[in-house]
Formats: sequence, C-alpha cells, structure tokens
Amino acid sequence: MTTYKDVYARWKADPEAFWTDAAAQIHWHRAPSRALTDLGDHMYEWFADGLTNTCYNAVDRHVAAGRGAQTAIIHDSPITGTKRTITYADLQTRVASLAGALKAKGVSKGDRVIIYMPMIPEALEAMLAVTRIGAIHSVVFGGFAAHELAVRIDDAKPKAIIAASCGLEPGRVVHYKPLLDGAIAQSTHKPDFTVIFQREQEPCALIPGQDVDWFDFQAGVSPAECEWVEGNHPCYILYTSGTTGQPKGVVRPTGGHLVALNWSMKNIYNVDPGDVFWAASDVGWVVGHSYICYGPLIHGNTTVVFEGKPIGTPDAGTFWRVISEHNVRSFFTAPTAFRAIKREDPKGEYRQKYDLSCLRALYLAGERADPDTIVWAQNILGVPVYDHWWQTETGWTIAGNPAGIEALPVKLGSPTVPMPGYDVQVLDEAGHPLGPNTLGAIAVKLPLPPGTLPTLWNADARFKKSYLAHFPGFYETGDAGMIDEDGYLYIMARTDDVINVAGHRLSTGAMEEVLASHPDVAECAVIGATDQLKGQVPVGFLCLTKGVNRPHPEIVKECVTLMREQIGPVADFKRAVVVDRLPKTRSGKILRATMVKIADSESFKMPATIDDPVILDEIREALQTIGYAKG
Ligand code: COA
Ligand code: AMP
Repeated sequence: MTTYKDVYARWKADPEAFWTDAAAQIHWHRAPSRALTDLGDHMYEWFADGLTNTCYNAVDRHVAAGRGAQTAIIHDSPITGTKRTITYADLQTRVASLAGALKAKGVSKGDRVIIYMPMIPEALEAMLAVTRIGAIHSVVFGGFAAHELAVRIDDAKPKAIIAASCGLEPGRVVHYKPLLDGAIAQSTHKPDFTVIFQREQEPCALIPGQDVDWFDFQAGVSPAECEWVEGNHPCYILYTSGTTGQPKGVVRPTGGHLVALNWSMKNIYNVDPGDVFWAASDVGWVVGHSYICYGPLIHGNTTVVFEGKPIGTPDAGTFWRVISEHNVRSFFTAPTAFRAIKREDPKGEYRQKYDLSCLRALYLAGERADPDTIVWAQNILGVPVYDHWWQTETGWTIAGNPAGIEALPVKLGSPTVPMPGYDVQVLDEAGHPLGPNTLGAIAVKLPLPPGTLPTLWNADARFKKSYLAHFPGFYETGDAGMIDEDGYLYIMARTDDVINVAGHRLSTGAMEEVLASHPDVAECAVIGATDQLKGQVPVGFLCLTKGVNRPHPEIVKECVTLMREQIGPVADFKRAVVVDRLPKTRSGKILRATMVKIADSESFKMPATIDDPVILDEIREALQTIGYAKG
C-alpha cells in the first residue's frame, strides 16, 4: 500500500519529477519543456512554456472523452426553490457561446473581466468563458459593497464586467445593479461594457451604451474555440485582504493550477471522476474558485452550486438534504457553518431524516476548526472529519489529511500534515527553525508548489515585501503555529491584521481606514474578538475629534452604516465603543493584541513598553458595555 510518507518522500526527492508526473493527467496542446523555472530573486514559475487552456481541461476534454452526458453542475437553490442540472455537453455549448460573444465585443487574451455574481451556474459559465479565450477573470464576492468593487476595478482595469441583476440573501434581495453602477461611477478606470444576467427575482433596467443583456449579446455570434495559453499565463486574479485597505491581487497561473487541483481531487478529497463533490462556499472566495468551479470540473466530477445557508433556508437540515438528494461523496465547508447548524439543532434531529450513506468524508477549512465542532460533526455524520489548512495565496491545501492516499489518524486541533509540494517550517523571529511543539511563524520553503501564487497582480515589489522579505528563502504564510513530534501542524493565530469572520478573510486595517474617514473620528482601532458562532467578529474603538459632543450611540450607528456601505455587509461590523484614548507602546504602536485578550477575558502579560497601563482598564470597561471582557 502506498503511504503518505512514501508520496511525500517521492516529492521531496525530486519535486520536478513528481509534478511532471502529475502534469501528465492534464491536456497540453504543447507539453512544457520543463517543470520549474527559477526566475531569480526567489521568484518561480511552473510549466511556463507549456500550452494549454483551463476551460478545455475543465469542459471540452470530458466531452471529447465521451462523457458529455454526465452532469457537470447541479444547481440547488433553496432560496428560490429551484433545482437544475447542466451536463458537460450543455456546459460546453453555453460557455463557448458566451466566450464567442465576449470575443465579438473585443475581449481577448490577457484582458481582464470582473465577475460579480451570486451562486448561480452562470457565475461558473462566466469564469470558464473568460478562461476559454485566454482572458483573465477576477470574481468579486457579492457581499462586498460598491467601494470594494471600485477598488478592484481600478486595480484589475477590466475590459468588461459580467454581473447578475441581483443576489438573494435570506429575506433580502441584494441589488447588484446599483452597486455595480455605483462602483463604476467611483472608479477611475471604466470598463468598455458590462454584461447583465437578468434574474427573474429582480430584473434591472439596462443603461444603453454600457450594459448588454447576457442572452441578447450572444445572439448570432459564433461560439469560441479554446485559446491555447502558456502555462504561466494568469488564469485569474483573486483579491484578498492584507494589512491595508488595498487588497492584494493574488495571481493564479494556468498550468500549475490545472495540475495541482487535479492532483488534489483524488489524493486529498478522495473522489474519482463522475463522483459528486460539494463545496458549500461562494464563488467569490478561493474555496469557490478551486472547489466549486475548477477542481471538480478539471477532474471530471459533478459539482454542486448551492444558493442557500446552512440554517434558515429553510432549516438546519438543508445540508443533509443536498448531500442525500445529490449523492454527494465528499463535502467541504467552513466550521462556522457547522457551528450554526449545531446551535440550531444540537441533537442533530434533522440529520435523522436523511439517508447520508453516500457521504464518505467532511472537509473543513477557511478558519480554525475547533475540536467541539469536529467531534459534533463526526458524531452526527458518522464519517471522518478532516480539517485542512490553506489560503487564497496557495489555492489548495498546504496541510491536510491525504485521504485518497492514506487516511491518517485525526488529531483534534490539527489540520494534519503538509502536502507534497510544501516544506512547512516553524521559524523564530530571526528565521531559525524551531523544535517540535514550539510556537513560531509558519513559513514554507521556496519554491512553492504548482498552483500557488507566483506574484501579485502588477505588484512584484509588494509580493516580495509581503511574503518573501521577512524570511529569505521562505514564503511567509502570515499564520503562527507549531509542529508536533509526529509532524502534525497546529495553526494558532494570524501574525498580521487579518481576521476571519465566519470563514471570511477580512482586514482590520481596511476597517480602520473606513472608521478614520468618519468626520467625528480622530483615531480608531479594530480588533477581532472571539465569537462562538463566527470564530471572530470585528470590534471597533473610536476616539472622537476634540469638541465633538454628539451622542455616542449616534456616532457608532453612523460608523456601522459607513462600514456596510464601504466594505459591505460581509464585514459584519456591528459593535463599536467610544473611548477617550487607545492603549499604545511608548513608540505609539496601538496594542491591539492586548485589547483582543481583554475582550476575550483572557489573561495577558502587561506589555513592557506600554505607555499608560490605566488605559487598559478604560478599554475593559468600554468593552463590558457591549458584552465583552466579562470574565
Ligand atoms: N451577498 C450579499 N450579502 C451577503 C452575502 C452575499 N453573497 N453573503 C453574506 N452576506 C451578508 C449577509 O446577508 C449578512 O448581512 P446582514 O448583516 O444584513 O444580516 C452579512 O453579510 C454577514 O453574513 P454572514 O457572515 O454569512 O452571516 P449570517 O449571520 O448571515 O450567517 C452563517 C451566518 C454561519 C450561517 C454564515 O456565515 C455561513 O453560512 N457561513 C459559511 C461560511 C462560508 O461558507 N465561508 C466561505 C469560506 S470557506
Ligand atoms: P483565505 O485566504 O480566505 O482562505 O484565508 C486563509 C486564512 O484562513 C489562513 O491564513 C488562516 O489564517 C485561516 N485558515 C484557513 N484554514 C484554516 C484552518 N484549517 N485552520 C486554521 N486557520 C485556517
């Protein structure tokens, strides 16, 4: 029997041979002459001179292999009460037509196209149509507001934007069109045109000269063939939160992405072509890119596009219904979804109504999986629950349980072991490797494996500064943790200003920039406080401009509204307090980590460099007024 250790050792002995073998599962119009290119200065590329196409590998090759009648996409929308399926052959026709229409309007290789759509199959079709013609998509999550969309328009400079008329949240229509128009009005760069998919729940008026209708603009155009692109050609850009309000444009290269995702479907998620795979996330996040759209389709699986929530659409049994009804074999979601179900249905009574014998394993990622949630999920489902750790930057698992090779024993609180491709090390501040069970910065020895980011969009210098500068020769993950004596990894915290709210990655720095723009706010801080359901939630501290004596609740309310308008509802910014001063070091650095400890009622060591310890008592008292720092 092949073991994880064998496979990992085989990779380590000859990484290029390992990934060249994996690349043989991908269709290349021209095979790459070599696996890895060292560009110098710690920059690398995989399969740079091969010629291939993402859409071809995700759609056309399955049709060519005689699998056109297999279902590619199952759309299940408890929000609209609809279900439909699309075969690989249908998908090919639909995507080729959309791609042809984009091409006819002048979109070509290398052009960017922003996609702003809800969880409908057309979102995947738009992604595939863009890659079909060698253009580069950038999907923006529907929970982001106009300003965030505008920031991405100005960075990616798209030739076109593809959007739906609306999204649907429980009890609320998300009016995409005014958000889209608002974003275009705010941005300096203007797209040549926008394509609008009209949803019957809320069609919108089209602006002549700007908007074209999804169906109308396809009428009479010739379907587009796949455009062969180099292995190092960007497949997509996905913006993710960093330390500042300017999101980082993670670049996903075509060749490595195809190879790595295809490898992961069997070796990590343990599914064979034809099996149904479901990732309950959103196309706006990396999980949606890798495991709602590309991974399952590249590997010839059936993917489920689910428009709903774990609870309330209509009840806490929705996930079980979808698994049972669609014969899902491997299921992937964020721990927060399970915490929501557990809170609503602690005894798992809904689960008893469904036959889940099709399910083989549950995969959790996106945030720390707390042991209680894992144990509850194991008991309810009766299948192994695998935590796995990765990031937008890597696009696929850094550490996980390689169930398709060998299911390793689960250790609660650990996402298990590094995958082939990743030499994960725990380093001290000076970059020295630390021994077992010692907390430090988690870094990955360069080069990173195929599929991971080669750089940030138009920002090589920022890429080097953010990820490569701190520990020369390593990629800095931004996470802190440790490795035990068995090689199991433990992820404990972020080392930067990124917080994780219900599995959504957000920047407290970006939120501080929004608060600081309020005319009455002189200084502010945002921290991530621990939350039973969402893992973390943002809490704001506002120091008011001298002379402002309006009621504090009024100012807090305005700040909450401002955040919703600027970043979007997904920020979940609902709690803030007014304080006189912020705790700082003598050099003026705000002591955010200490404030988190106070909010969470955890003990902490008084920072040696604190300017005035009394301020911490004021912070505690303020937090108590909104239900924190109770212990
Ligand atoms: N478009 C527009 N708004 C959105 C949105 C979208 N795609 N997704 C979320 N929002 C809004 C919600 O409507 C909510 O708005 P509200 O403040 O008006 O209620 C806000 O953003 C916060 O949403 P969310 O974080 O989803 O919280 P919730 O209270 O609505 O639901 C959970 C809680 C746990 C059920 C939900 O967070 C969940 O399903 N999480 C799974 C996480 C996940 O899949 N993460 C992806 C990474 S793997
Ligand atoms: P994102 O880029 O949105 O996928 O967020 C990546 C970040 O989420 C990681 O850097 C971690 O901080 C956190 N994260 C993701 N998965 C896990 C996990 N399994 N355990 C702990 N933290 C996780």
